Amino acid sequence: MQRRQFLKRSAMAGAVVAFSGARVWAKDADARIEVLLDEPLGEISPNIYGQFTEHIGGVIYDGVWVGEGSKIPNDHGIRSQLVAMMKQIHVPVIRWPGGCFADSYDWKDGIGEPSNRPRRTNFWEVDRDAARLHEKGLQIFESNAFGTNEFIRFCRLTEAQPYFAANVRSLPALDFDHWVEYCNSPAGSTTLAEVRANAGFPEPFNVRYWGVGNESWGCGGNFTPEQYASEFRRYTDWIPRYGVDLQLIGSGPNGNDIDWTHRFFEQIYSGHTYNNPSFTGWSVHHYASNLSRGRTTDWIARKGDALQFDSVDWYELLRECNRIEQIIQDQWAVMGQYDTHHRVKLVVDEYGPWYREGTELDPTHIFGQQITVRDALATALTLDAFNRNPEKVGMATCAQLINNLNALFLAHEEHFIATPNFHVFAMYAAHQAGQALRAEFSAPDVQYTRDDKPARFWGLNGSASRKGQTVILTIVNPDVSKTIETQVALRGGTVTRASGTVLASSDMHAHNTFDQPNAVMPATLPVALSGGLINVSIPPASVARLDVSLG
Ligand code: AHR
Repeated sequence: MQRRQFLKRSAMAGAVVAFSGARVWAKDADARIEVLLDEPLGEISPNIYGQFTEHIGGVIYDGVWVGEGSKIPNDHGIRSQLVAMMKQIHVPVIRWPGGCFADSYDWKDGIGEPSNRPRRTNFWEVDRDAARLHEKGLQIFESNAFGTNEFIRFCRLTEAQPYFAANVRSLPALDFDHWVEYCNSPAGSTTLAEVRANAGFPEPFNVRYWGVGNESWGCGGNFTPEQYASEFRRYTDWIPRYGVDLQLIGSGPNGNDIDWTHRFFEQIYSGHTYNNPSFTGWSVHHYASNLSRGRTTDWIARKGDALQFDSVDWYELLRECNRIEQIIQDQWAVMGQYDTHHRVKLVVDEYGPWYREGTELDPTHIFGQQITVRDALATALTLDAFNRNPEKVGMATCAQLINNLNALFLAHEEHFIATPNFHVFAMYAAHQAGQALRAEFSAPDVQYTRDDKPARFWGLNGSASRKGQTVILTIVNPDVSKTIETQVALRGGTVTRASGTVLASSDMHAHNTFDQPNAVMPATLPVALSGGLINVSIPPASVARLDVSLG
């Protein structure tokens, strides 16, 4: 019945013709997208729009934390402009304090009177990127001015949930218990609750999300999967609860390392089964760091440049980021062999492009890099992959929020800007808690030449979600030069209104700077309704969002 009505409406409109019997499309469209309203995929967890902040380079010091006495507007030392912009995009969760830093961090150093806190050597002191620092400042010798209390304040100001990464490499399991006790034990109940109260926080923080180590296959202990499984059991058994529904996140693979996941899950689920209902997350890290087109795996030589690239490099970066979809499928399949009811979801708590050094805004910004419109597309296609897999991906945090790899913000002293990535998160925020819908994208592949051989990349892709009578459709056009004339059909409903927004630039290297903070900004994308279809011209190298109202 619905289909008959659709055909009748379409037949009355001159611009549309019947296509392959059952469908109606314009003759001259390059691409079509069908959103299937009757095929929900599950609710998109708001937590996949999370952020990551580590004590590295300019993330905490110069980024988040400017200090209480600073002339830079701040709230208890936390950069006010950052807080205001994070609220605009509804950041649901923030991961802290690392990263690799987490497995060398003693949480006790970061509580109590700030002037009494010890100075320590930061984990990243050994990194070769840090060697260029003339002044061995906060990036090398950690002041602990920003600790648990300050992080919780940051979360409260931004209305985000805290997600802690606990130290498994260099602190005993009892320290993990005590950190939970410091954060969550009721007012007046324990000595640590009193220490917390003395710092001005009598009420518990009720922290739910706890990562059990970080990259335990590497900087987090260099464990084998079996060793890590054994540590995981030890660290997570009988943690104090205080009525908080703890969510424990295991340290998962490097990229798509199937072996790590197989062997860890086998140890946890076979033989002497570990049956802790709080184990609900499996962390995955995926960095697009190898842009050498298969020529090398060397950590330095394989990286590309954040600003100097050609169109082949452009597609290469998108291709590397696009691997996330396969990683999600593969890891999920392995986990399902053991965790047959899929209690454990994927937590992609580090992702983004990773370029060679040289475009950081300040020498202190270890792993700082510029963010172009290319990175905006990479971020958008990653978020779309999460949206398309709502039953698998429970949480994700972008690495990292500010002055780092895939930053949403760049700041130095009083200067502060939003990068194109911020605008992607702003455009995609409407997907949070929406019902993901199956959407079929049909567009010719982009074809280009890669090292004298023909290469392809998909022509259009994206994701759709619904809240009530509103459908949000986000679309990435990766083609560096071609506008894609696109028709969109919403199967199973009637479109009454549609509007569009687009993030694009005619220069694929475009990025925002302190001098030109608005070089890359979202703009209105014209759309036209015809015969129940939405017609839209999607510009080259762009991220688009359509807001569609249903009758
Ligand atoms: O995000 C930078 C680093 O990358 C993190 O500390 C680590 O977990 C990863 O290797």
